[in-house]
Amino acid sequence: MPEFEQKAEVGALTTFVKNLLKMKNPDSMLKQAQEGGLKKTLGAFDLIILGVGAIIGSGIFTVVGIAAVGSPESAGAGPSLILSMIIASMACIFSALCYSEFASMLPVAGSAYLYTYATMGEFMAWMIGWILMLEYLVAYIAVVSAWSGYFMQFLKGFGAFLPDWLVNPPVYLIHDYSTAVNEITKQGLDANSVIPHFLGIPICINVPSLVITIILISILIKGIQESTKMAGLMVAIKLGVVGLFVFTGMFYIKPQNWTPFAPNGLEGMFMGAFIIFFAYIGFDAIATAAEETKNPQRNLPIGIIGSLLTCTVVYVLVALVLTGVVPIDKIDVQAPIASAMNMIGKNWIAGLISIGALTGLTSVLLVMLLAGTRILYAMSRDGFLPKVLQTVHPKFKTPHVITLMTGFICIVGTICMNISTAAELCNFGTFASFIIVCVAVLILRKTQPDRYRPFKVPFSPYVPMAGIICCSGLMFYSMKFLKTSRVLFPVWIILGIAFYFLYGYRQQRKLEKCAELTANKEDNV
Ligand code: ALA
Repeated sequence: MPEFEQKAEVGALTTFVKNLLKMKNPDSMLKQAQEGGLKKTLGAFDLIILGVGAIIGSGIFTVVGIAAVGSPESAGAGPSLILSMIIASMACIFSALCYSEFASMLPVAGSAYLYTYATMGEFMAWMIGWILMLEYLVAYIAVVSAWSGYFMQFLKGFGAFLPDWLVNPPVYLIHDYSTAVNEITKQGLDANSVIPHFLGIPICINVPSLVITIILISILIKGIQESTKMAGLMVAIKLGVVGLFVFTGMFYIKPQNWTPFAPNGLEGMFMGAFIIFFAYIGFDAIATAAEETKNPQRNLPIGIIGSLLTCTVVYVLVALVLTGVVPIDKIDVQAPIASAMNMIGKNWIAGLISIGALTGLTSVLLVMLLAGTRILYAMSRDGFLPKVLQTVHPKFKTPHVITLMTGFICIVGTICMNISTAAELCNFGTFASFIIVCVAVLILRKTQPDRYRPFKVPFSPYVPMAGIICCSGLMFYSMKFLKTSRVLFPVWIILGIAFYFLYGYRQQRKLEKCAELTANKEDNV
């Protein structure tokens, strides 16, 4: 090859790599956020409320049962669930400290997506945005399945006054396909003949999930004013029912239920930690409220770490009571907390727990949908996704196209995916984003050591490194056992890379060209 051609190729490659690493300037992000003009109303306590509101959901009301008992793909932790919870919370606390450093230094609404844009460049920013999309959408799918389980439990409570078709509908109208098959097989029936087919496709639609999704999407399109008072009320209800469970259950603990402590050994304990990690997801949502926070440099770290510690204490108490009251093989994986109260004859508490769970899960569903649409909106504003997604409803002034699209994806996901696959997939995505934030802290400490950091991760680089080790350790360990989600996650990553190179990368270059032309025109004038 002639020398000039070789040079041209090297030049093209260098430009390509430079483009992938193009970063957003942190100062320009801060300026943009200040110009955004959002009202700064949230204090440290409001942030803790917001965090607990986003964190406590199906993890503690439903997934806790799967973590304790296990699933066809993962061993259960048994009573060692308490240690699983502490392990998962440590992975979160290390990452939360890193989030806090970023959030106090860059109080902008884009959270991990923008932190990555400021440190690792365009390609990684796209990838983290793509992963966050997965995190929020599949978290929605997991939470809405739990919602549906509690809704049916709630209807059963009124069984005496309601028609039987409503209280005991066919399983294929209240579950996804794989759960329906499991349930039907458990009854000794042939799933293929019970589930109706249309053109050879089995028809399994979780109707309660479908209805609540349509309602929430309509609310979001009309626009909601997220009020801290409302969030506070929801958190009070959630904490109230969890507290009621702990205070009632503790008198029925039988210490013999705690032996054997770890029936599946370390494998069960670590798989339990991986699964129950889902229950802690949500504290990162606090960082997205950065632009609406008073004195964010002080309040954001308090909010993030405070809400995480509050939830850790609550979760450990729930795990102690649940495994102490109910023998492991009797834990109901659909609604473990409420059923535990039924087992000790406290049906009215079980009823209250179902109502509290429904309220709490609804607030998590709204947060997940909002966060999912917000991240899609930010990415399309940055030119990574088609412009049509930015369309704002003429009357309601909300991004209705994105919201409708998100709702559609969630509905399809609810039909195809069961709760444990959704929770596992969501965990993979969240672990990946936590690892990237920990790495980003280390990078920015090296590249911009003098930048003002109102909150600094203590004992750096050890704490970010511990975050990376805990998150990647749990992630890779669980991949050994999980069959479905360990395939789905890499597929999502490959799709993300393909989408970036086929669309995002080219679009970014087009935008740069447009910006150059505009700048040249202005110079000439
Ligand atoms: N942490 C949230 C929940 O448990 C995702 O529902």
